[in-house]
Amino acid sequence: APTEEEIRALAAPLASLEGPLLPMLHAVQETYGFIPENAVPVLADILNLGRAEVHGVVSFYHDFREAPAGRHVLKICRAEACQSMGGSALAEATLRKLGIGWHDTTGDGALTVEPVYCLGMCACAPAAMLDDRVVARLDEARMDRLLSEAGA
Ligand code: FES
Repeated sequence: APTEEEIRALAAPLASLEGPLLPMLHAVQETYGFIPENAVPVLADILNLGRAEVHGVVSFYHDFREAPAGRHVLKICRAEACQSMGGSALAEATLRKLGIGWHDTTGDGALTVEPVYCLGMCACAPAAMLDDRVVARLDEARMDRLLSEAGA
């Protein structure tokens, strides 16, 4: 994990922006892949905010990870077209199979599952994305193949 000094050096130059907290959090996540716990007090200190306030923002925006992602990230579309084509049942079955919830990572660190809201594949719903690859017309068998591809 980065030191407080490293986080401070990264975040402090952004303090003069209007609404600096989100850009700071994005910078931290881009650099480290997640928001390390020790970033919260550093950002709170720079911005003169309470730690609870900073932590509240981190947990409110699901874009921010509070732990490193797994080796692979599966984003399952939860927008309307996919939902109406069986996407929600498929997503639930997938999470049940993996034994995790949204935004969680399997115990062996292989796979993180996240929701996404439309991948532009509505005509071929339901869709998901494994790492950088969009996969459409998903059913349970194709989803199983994706999971085993990801080693989950
Ligand atoms: Fe899922 Fe558009 S709603 S791809």
